[in-house]
Amino acid sequence: MHTASRGHRTRRRVLPVAVLALVAALAVSAGATARRSGAPRAHTAAVTISSRPFGTTTGGKPVRVYTLSNGHMRVRITNFGGVIQSIDVPDRRGRMADVTLGFPKLGGYEANDVYPQPSGGSGSTYFGATVGRYANRIANGAFTLNGTTYHLPKNNGPNTLHGGPNSWNSEVWAPTVSRTASGVSLALTLTSPDGQNGFPGTVVAAVTFTLGRANALTIHYHATTDKPTVINMTNHSYFNLAGEASGSILNQRLMIPANRYTPTDNTQIPTGKIVPVAGTPLDFRHFKAIGRDITSPFPQLVLAHGYDHNFVLNGSGTGMKLAARAIDPVSGRTLAAFTTEPGVQLYTSNFLQGELVGTSGKTYRQSAGFTLETQHYPDSPNEPSFPSTTLNPGTPFNSTTVFEFGVTR
Ligand code: GLA
Repeated sequence: MHTASRGHRTRRRVLPVAVLALVAALAVSAGATARRSGAPRAHTAAVTISSRPFGTTTGGKPVRVYTLSNGHMRVRITNFGGVIQSIDVPDRRGRMADVTLGFPKLGGYEANDVYPQPSGGSGSTYFGATVGRYANRIANGAFTLNGTTYHLPKNNGPNTLHGGPNSWNSEVWAPTVSRTASGVSLALTLTSPDGQNGFPGTVVAAVTFTLGRANALTIHYHATTDKPTVINMTNHSYFNLAGEASGSILNQRLMIPANRYTPTDNTQIPTGKIVPVAGTPLDFRHFKAIGRDITSPFPQLVLAHGYDHNFVLNGSGTGMKLAARAIDPVSGRTLAAFTTEPGVQLYTSNFLQGELVGTSGKTYRQSAGFTLETQHYPDSPNEPSFPSTTLNPGTPFNSTTVFEFGVTR
């Protein structure tokens, strides 16, 4: 293994303790940030979790949707695909809106992940989903690990995307609810068999969603394997801070603290180079409207039909760091993403065609939302110079992302 990769792997081993400390610190700072930016003061409303049936899969499995609420923020998550179905947060006047794209019913999520995909539509959108075993693309559906080449089904042109067809985003996960004095959690676990979609090793994956009194959703990922394999987990929520189905996000303002990004070929596979954002439309180091440069004929934007790129976060490593901040100037809602991951994929709903009917009964068109997919870089199994995504027996994968909501005046 490449030396840099080995260093990275070693740092991962010490992560859980560091993560807990950082999450605790963030929870405190989240409250402070929200108050500074004009959000309601810290409150003492109970933090609750409840659930109700969300239908039965075509395979006959009953599914539930869980509602996590702290009186100011409400998150709905289903154990189908570990999908965040909705996130309701207040604007600067306290008016609530659901700021994520989704489907109103289980059938919407199931129908959206058929394989092979019918041509001409929006494709699999992964609205709100927990994505694994390997989020983002693996070139030509193949990678070599410890001398063995593994072949994966191709579900994105010549490449494998988001773990391949019918992957973790459309499986029924086993739920466990817990409550502590400071918050509530929903833990979802899944056993992915050796050979699933061509990947080696039985992987036991867990994703835990936690809501406390602050308006911040913490997502913690954990995975173990019984054979060397690769792992890259993310959440694929599409945000629209003005509210789901309210129109385009192009006037919402975004900042990503990344000096560099990973340019891709025309099938959206990284070339292996890591290049500066300076002087390109991918420079989000200072807040700008997402739409300001999106129509630039810059070749990287042309081939992706907008932003669909992995940013190399400054200070990459395994510590918790800022991944992005977003502001909707009209409603005043803000979002900050923090992560232990080294990268974040910004995707501006480039392939939404307007035929999918969303949560509130309206259709979603191009630019209806933006994703902040915290992750390792795309195609890392084939790029030895990228931080390693190898998962070995005895060394669990741990990763944390926090989505913190607030308001600005
Ligand atoms: C990721 C990819 C996009 C697109 C979406 C799902 O964000 O990078 O190209 O495939 O998933 O539609």
